[in-house]
Amino acid sequence: MTVPIVDITHREDFSAAHRLHCDSLSAEENLALYGPCNTLHGHNYGVEVTLRGPVDPVTGMVINLVDLMRVMREEIFDACDHKFLNEDVPWLVGLVPTAEVLAIAFWDRVAARRSDLGDSEMTRVRVIESRNNFVDYHGPS
Ligand code: NI
Repeated sequence: MTVPIVDITHREDFSAAHRLHCDSLSAEENLALYGPCNTLHGHNYGVEVTLRGPVDPVTGMVINLVDLMRVMREEIFDACDHKFLNEDVPWLVGLVPTAEVLAIAFWDRVAARRSDLGDSEMTRVRVIESRNNFVDYHGPS
C-alpha cells in the first residue's frame, strides 16, 4: 500500500520596517533602482512554511502543526516582529531585505530546526510582502 504524501502549511504574520539599499551603489543609483522602497517603510508580512511528508496512519498527521507554529514563532516572528529588519535582526544585517532574501533567510532558520519537525521535508517558504507581491523559495538547488 502506498503511503499518502501531503503538504501542510503554517502561516505567521508580522509587521516590520525595512529599507532597500545596496551599500555598493551610490545614493542616486539606489534611488533609481529601488524607488520609494529606498526610503524607510514597513510591511505587514505573511510567511508560509510548507512541509511534505507521509500521513501517519495512527495520528492522521504529517507532523503536529503546533510544532511548526512554535518553530516559526521562535525563529521568525520573535526575531522580526516590530523590528527594523536592516539593523535589528542580526542574521539580516548586511543583506538587502527584499522578499527574496527574507525567504532564503527564513528557510535557513527553519531548516536549522529540522530535528523539531519530524521526518517531514520542507518544500516551500513563501514571503508575502503585500497583497500583490509574494515570493516562493523551494530551497537550495
Ligand atoms: Ni518594502
